[in-house]
Amino acid sequence: MQRRMIASLAAILVAIVAVRAENARPAAPAAAAAADVKLGDARKGKEIFEGRAVPAASCALCHGVSGKGDGLGAAAIRAAGAVPRDFTNKAEMGKISNAEMIKAITEGGASLGKSIFMTPWKGILTAGQIKDVAAYIRLFAQ
Ligand code: HEC
Repeated sequence: MQRRMIASLAAILVAIVAVRAENARPAAPAAAAAADVKLGDARKGKEIFEGRAVPAASCALCHGVSGKGDGLGAAAIRAAGAVPRDFTNKAEMGKISNAEMIKAITEGGASLGKSIFMTPWKGILTAGQIKDVAAYIRLFAQ
C-alpha cells in the first residue's frame, strides 16, 4: 500500500517537473516573429511623414523631409542634447527591428529609454498609419 503511494507521488513529481521544463523552454520562433512585424504601405506613410495626411503628425519637422534628422525643429532638439535619428544611416537603422520602430512611434522614445523629444503618436495616428509611416522610414536606408 505504502509503496504504491510512493510510486504515484513519484509519478506526480515527474509530471510536475516535465511541465515546468516545458514552460521554461524559450519561445524562440514567437520572439523572432515579433521582431519582424510586417510593415504597411510606404506611399501612405510618406504623406503622414511629411505632415500632409495628418497635419498634427509631421515627422519631417524633426526628422527632415530627407530623413536625415535635419528638419526645422532639429536644431532646437540638438541644443537640448538629443539627436533625431538619421534614417539614411544603414548601419544604425539595421540595428532597429520593425517591432522596436513601431514601439518607438506608438509609445514614444521614453518607452525605449530614448529621447522624450520623440513623442508618442498613439491617439494621433492609428496602428495602421504607424505601420505605414514605419514602412516609409525604412526606404530612407535602402
Ligand atoms: C519633436 C521632434 C520629433 C518629431 C516631430 C518626431 N520625432 Fe521621431 N525622433 C525624435 C528624436 C529626438 C529621436 C531620437 C531618439 C533617440 O535616439 O534618443 C527620434 C527617433 C525616432 C525613431 C527611432 C527610434 C529608435 O528606436 O531609435 C523613429 C522610428 C521615429 N523617431 C519616428 C518618428 C515618426 C514616424 C514621427 C512622426 C509621426 C516622428 N518620429 C516625429 C524626434 C522627433
